[in-house]
Amino acid sequence: MTQQEKIYSERFEKILQHTQITRPHENPTAIPSILSMMNDLQPQDFSLSTVIHTMNRDWDWTTTNLFAEGDINAGLFMVPKGHRIPLHDHPQMTVFFRVLWGHLELKAYDWDQRFPFEGLANPRSHVQLDGASQTQLVRPELNNIHAILALSDCAFVDLFAPPYCADSGRSCSNYREKAWVQRGGEKLMQLERVPSS
Ligand SMILES: [Fe+2]
Repeated sequence: MTQQEKIYSERFEKILQHTQITRPHENPTAIPSILSMMNDLQPQDFSLSTVIHTMNRDWDWTTTNLFAEGDINAGLFMVPKGHRIPLHDHPQMTVFFRVLWGHLELKAYDWDQRFPFEGLANPRSHVQLDGASQTQLVRPELNNIHAILALSDCAFVDLFAPPYCADSGRSCSNYREKAWVQRGGEKLMQLERVPSS
């Protein structure tokens, strides 16, 4: 495959173009239209019936970069059955997360305080998703810390706006769940950053 060859369909190309124009991270009114377009994606938009067999089972997950231009970035992620992507964040990012193959469990938290985030988080969702599920939305204040467990071999697409960029303060951190904390009637999770090795 040459570098120039596209590994996605025209349908996904239209989503990328729409995202580049509407810039949902700066213009949240564009979010519903992108969610709706992402919901229409199918495994064949990424030749998944072939690509899924290239998954490296020695790794917890593999990523194929689909698109990277300006503030918009997209990747295809594949996770073998029983493997996990540990709790991680998407600082100041908007992410559209669409499962296209197999099924997985998503556990997500919202940070409890304003940026810069650290510490306490509200449990947001703990759901099973598959190709029939709606696109999940990650925003700076919504679903921003999450973990994935593959219940079968699975694949999903993440569309990032903007992408990770250490120079702009958008590094990815991993977390571990330390302890539940009771605050009034609320139950919050104390998250602890896992030092990068
Ligand atoms: Fe993520």
